[in-house]
Amino acid sequence: MIKNFIDFDDLSFEELQDIINRAIALKKEHNEGVINNSLKNKTLAMIFDKSSTRTRVSFEAGMTQLGGHALFLSDNDIQLGRGERITDSAIVISSMVDAVMLRISSHEDIIEFSKYSNKPVINALSDLSHPCQILADLMTYQEQRGSINGKKVAWIGDGNNVCQTYMQAAEIFGFELTIASPKGYEPNQSFVESYQNNINYCSSSMDACEVADLVVTDVWTSMGKESEHKQRESAFKGYQVNQKMMSVANSDALFMHCLPAHRGEEVSADVIDGKQSVVWDEAENRLHAQKALLLYLIEA
Ligand code: CP
Ligand code: NVA
Repeated sequence: MIKNFIDFDDLSFEELQDIINRAIALKKEHNEGVINNSLKNKTLAMIFDKSSTRTRVSFEAGMTQLGGHALFLSDNDIQLGRGERITDSAIVISSMVDAVMLRISSHEDIIEFSKYSNKPVINALSDLSHPCQILADLMTYQEQRGSINGKKVAWIGDGNNVCQTYMQAAEIFGFELTIASPKGYEPNQSFVESYQNNINYCSSSMDACEVADLVVTDVWTSMGKESEHKQRESAFKGYQVNQKMMSVANSDALFMHCLPAHRGEEVSADVIDGKQSVVWDEAENRLHAQKALLLYLIEA
């Protein structure tokens, strides 16, 4: 059966943990200069209708490092952007490649694509979730502090796609997630109803950070919401992760942000560039985590 990674809980805890462990091993191998051609002659199609730095570079470099090839397909260049049906695109593209990665706005469209694809489909960020990011975040936590099981994670800010994937991960990995979002910017009701285990909501961002082991935030204005930027700037006042907030977290707490970041908005410069921040490892780990994911899905 074809395995997809569209939502974080498409894979079991055992599968996800194996992928993270393999990612850590692949990182070590790569740093030692070991050549790994496990995906020789394999092709990954990467379909984008939104911008990307980390996702594009990590998937593309990852395929090269595994001896394969990645095809960058912007919706401006392929017929999908001119109205070809998503289902027709899925049949054609998947008949020629070994896996398909999509960063397209509509989560429903990724699911629709997967129904007609005969190769694994990876969600590389949709309006609802960002599973590849959380895979890298959990790998980073494990590298820095060991198991995240039983730890306290504070999500500060927009209840967006990244936050919603943290909700899916909290139950699977057994960490306690406290979400502090301004009114009107909470996670989607469907996520609130579907994912309740290990999740708390808090009106104060300071209270959410209290004794946290990990503090995470993201931009106030996600891609596609640019017209709301002014309104969001005022709604999110008080939701900036700064030293005051970090000071109530555990003394060995880590700070993560999926990037791109806006210093002075969702995070102060001294936090993101400070000692508790692991954002550069987190970004680099997209490469290693996705190499392990590609191996798992393509070799399955
Ligand atoms: N974090 C992340 O997905 O970054 P990009 O938008 O640059 O791919
Ligand atoms: N929430 C952000 C994440 C970017 C990687 C967005 O959707 O734009």
